[in-house]
Amino acid sequence: MPEPQWTEIHEKALAMAWRARSHAWAPYSGFKVGCALMFPGGEIVPGCNVENASYGLTQCAERCAVCAAVARGLLGFTDAIVVTDLKKPAPPCGACRQVLFEFSPGATVWLVGSGGGKSRHIVGELLPEAFRFDGPGR
Ligand code: THU
Repeated sequence: MPEPQWTEIHEKALAMAWRARSHAWAPYSGFKVGCALMFPGGEIVPGCNVENASYGLTQCAERCAVCAAVARGLLGFTDAIVVTDLKKPAPPCGACRQVLFEFSPGATVWLVGSGGGKSRHIVGELLPEAFRFDGPGR
């Protein structure tokens, strides 16, 4: 398998992730996160975290992007870019790993911090022994 490369379209998705981050609703934690999912047809779907006064209802940026993509009929993303203003890029939480895994276990996750530093991961490697359900309806 060739190593995933950072391309022009990744740059475009990165800009969209930063833009989505600027829209994050994070008045409680003050921690804004942006995400952009890339699809084989060139589509890019952004997301941001959306907090709530009832804290447990908070939606992370990655899951926001996945829900937006599914609503557009886009399922199998190839890459997910996640941006925060931390120096060291922040990895997705466990819930987001499971939701990303549902659609694209082989996708590349690019984590980008404030200095522009990137780290690269594969969804399935971020969530070994992921839960799968092959029961009725699948
Ligand atoms: N957050 C994300 O958006 N993605 C993650 O993977 C981890 C956490 C958000 C949720 C909450 O709004 C804030 O970061 C602090 O936890």
